[in-house]
This record gives sequence, C-alpha cells and structure tokens, in this order.
Amino acid sequence: MHGTQRTPILGIYPVSMHRHALWHPFADMSVVAGNDFIIASGDGCTVTDTHGRTYLDSTAGLWFANIGHGRIEVAQAAAQQMSRLAAYSTFGDYANAPVLELADRIAAMVPMTDAKVFFTSGGSDSVDTAVKMVRKYWQLLGKDDKQSIVTRTSAYHGMHVAGTSLGGIAANRAGFEDFGSQGRTVAWDDPQDLEAYLHQVGPEHVAAFFCEPIIGAGGVYLPPDGYLERVRQICRDHDVLFVADEVISGFGRTGCAFASTRWQLDPDIILAAKGMTSGYAPMGAVVASGTVADPFWAPGAGMWRHGYTYSGHAVSAAVALANLDILERESLVTAVRGLEVTLSAALAPLRGHQFVHQVRSGIGLLGAVQLDPAVLAEDPGLPTKIVHGLRHHGVVSRMLADGSIQISPPFTITRRQLQELSTGIDAVLTDLGSAREPIQSLHAELLPEQDRDYRGFDSLDDQLLLDVPPHHGS
Ligand SMILES: Cc1ncc(COP(=O)(O)O)c(C=O)c1O
Repeated sequence: MHGTQRTPILGIYPVSMHRHALWHPFADMSVVAGNDFIIASGDGCTVTDTHGRTYLDSTAGLWFANIGHGRIEVAQAAAQQMSRLAAYSTFGDYANAPVLELADRIAAMVPMTDAKVFFTSGGSDSVDTAVKMVRKYWQLLGKDDKQSIVTRTSAYHGMHVAGTSLGGIAANRAGFEDFGSQGRTVAWDDPQDLEAYLHQVGPEHVAAFFCEPIIGAGGVYLPPDGYLERVRQICRDHDVLFVADEVISGFGRTGCAFASTRWQLDPDIILAAKGMTSGYAPMGAVVASGTVADPFWAPGAGMWRHGYTYSGHAVSAAVALANLDILERESLVTAVRGLEVTLSAALAPLRGHQFVHQVRSGIGLLGAVQLDPAVLAEDPGLPTKIVHGLRHHGVVSRMLADGSIQISPPFTITRRQLQELSTGIDAVLTDLGSAREPIQSLHAELLPEQDRDYRGFDSLDDQLLLDVPPHHGS
C-alpha cells in the first residue's frame, strides 16, 4: 500500500546472493551449487534448456517419461481434475472417482489373480510399504518369524529407510547398513545363491525375495537366461513371497506390460511408480495378488495401520489414467518391443570403443554402455566429462552406479533418434580419446537406410559438433 511500510511475512531470512538454495539429490553440492543445468521444457523425446538448446532425452528423465514430454492431453486431465477436486484423503472409507477407476484398471493389467492396489507417492514408498506388507502378511498367518528379506546384488530399491538397507548398490548403503535390515543380498545372476541362503537361515525366517527383474540404477543388467523363472520357483518351493520391483520395468519398458508378464513370473506383489504416470505427477503403487491381500481383507483382520497423505491422490490418478489411455491408443508397449532389436543394432558399434567395457541391451528400451573400470580408475572425472560431452553433442544422459551410460528413452523414440543417440555417444568417446575398432551390428538392417553404413557416424559429426546442438524433433 502506498506510503505504508509492509512487514514481510515470507522470505525475511538472509540468503547468499552467490549460492542457490536448491539442494540437489544425488549430487556433490560443492560442484553443483550455482551450476544448475536448467531444463525449461520438453517435447516428445527432447528437452530444451534455458538457453534454448534442445537435447535428445536418452533416459526419459529418471526412467519415467515413457509417453514422452509435453502431452497436452495429460495436462488437461490434470487441470480438469484439479479444478474439480485436487485431492482428498483415501484413509478409511474415503475415495475419489479417478483412484477407484485406476485401481481397477491396474488390477486388470497385472499378471495376477484378483489383484488389489495400494497407492503410494512413488517408488520408495512402494518398497517400504511392501516391506511392511510382507511382514504383516506372515503375522496374519501366524508365522511371525518370517521377517528376513532377500534382494539381489546391484539392485536398487529406493532411498527410504528400508529400501536403503535392502539395496544391492554398496555405495548407497554405506553407513546405513543397519537401518532396519534383517535382510541379505544374494548374487544377482545365480539362483543357487538364493537357494543356499534359504537353506542356511531356514525359509521359516524369510518373508520375501525382492527382485528387481532387470537391474536398473545398478547398471542395466539383464537377467541371465532362466534366472527369473528359477528364482521364482525357488520362492514358491520355500514358501517365500516373490516381490517384483517393477518401478522401472512396469508399464511397458520391457516391451510387455510388466517384466512379470514377459517372464510369466506370477508374482505375489508388484511394485510400481514412474511409468504409471510417465512422471506427469508423482504416484506409486503396491499391487498385491489376491492370495496376499486376502488375510488383510478378511473379516476380523482389523485395520492395517499404514498409508500416506497422498495415497490415491486424485490428480495423480487422473494423470495416470490419461497416461494409460495414451499407452494403449498409440500401442506404445508394442512399439517398445519392436524397437528393442533396433536399439541393440544402434549400440553395437560402441562395443568397439577402447573405453567401453560392455554394451548391454536386448530387452525393451533399456541399455547401458559401461566404461572400462581400468580407464575409470585412471580418470575418476571421466563420468562427468562424458555427461557434459554428451550435452555438447545434443544428448542428455547420466552415469549409473557401475560407470555405465544410462539408455532408457521415451517409448516414442524413432529409429533415427536411436541412431542419433548412439552417434552422440560415439562422438563424445572419440572426443575424449577413445579409439574405435569397426564392429558391424548383426541387426544393421533395422536402422534407418541412411545410417546403415557406420560411416554414418562421420556424416553426422559436422552437425553434432556445432555449439548449439541440433533440434531432434520427434
Ligand atoms: C527399481 C526401483 N525401485 C524403487 C525406486 C525408488 O523410486 P522413487 O525414486 O520414485 O522413490 C527406483 C527409482 O529409481 C527404482 O529404480
């Protein structure tokens, strides 16, 4: 008001003019503070920064933007729901229309009988909810000693307290191993290790095996042939619940609705998040088979004292429904299946790189280009150089726990863009001094005509070396 002194109500505390207050997750803030890489917008498989530079999104954000960025239809669904009812409790008997519809729709999608859906705010919530659910399940059956939880080495199960202690990435657990952990990791690739552990502690002490079907954040490790079927059977034989952590693999990333669908795992519980809303709103779920849910739902079971403020958030549910509409209408899961060999074909030449230890792909739109550990040991700054170098070549990506470049693009990616992605990785490795031996892909015929000859790498170089990366329209 004119002439009067306003007393500030918000923002009265001093902040440094030289530092930003945002504390980034998974970041070395001594390096990142004030050096934010600010994404301003997204469109299809690309994102654009605040300088107007457009990049191919090779990771779909953090494995979530499955339908691609900038879908107005989803924004409209959110706006409509928000103006009607943004959120309300779903504790007790409260519900809202979109969450009821979404639960039924997910129950019909999962490869389980009589599934029930418990909503959460994200993947870590889903993991910790499931940790409590499996213990409670056995308690309801009078088997209170079944408490231990087994996971796979290199697996990632979120960053809540239980998930931190259960994870198989040692660096993430360091200092927190004791957090509620009564569990144990077993070799990610050897079913016998699981069996041996069950015999060692006695299955009467083991509640569940939490299985990330394809190791994601740990480096995109595909399950060895027969591994998933075998561990599933071991759990069945020993009366141990099989929990599929499908936070990444769920809702189509493997080219099937769920990894559990692809490998016919008949899981007791599926954990979901990310692709459920394609990241347009935060939401997760624990989907329990009828067998697991029955004792909770039985007369006399009483209240299960668990839930979150945003369990069943109405806007998130409306967003998830719009996301599922798009996935179905555009047959995007089928598209993923069709692109998995193309992705392998595009990445294959990178195996010839001196700096590359392994290239992993072959299941859905999931891949990794792992750097040679010896090269990494010599230059620990290499991952950062690669991430920055990729941006220079018009690609946004990130490095995974084992020194791999993550590849998990939106499902709408084109064959041409997959080739561009590989070209970008090739270019940055070359820039950093890695020599490449020519390696032909077994599936080169699946790549766009003009790129089939891997001299195509060179033909795109001039364009990619421009200061302003090219626009990768979809
Ligand atoms: C397999 C898996 N489980 C759980 C989580 C945790 O999900 P959120 O980060 O949404 O809490 C993640 C996240 O990347 C994940 O990949």
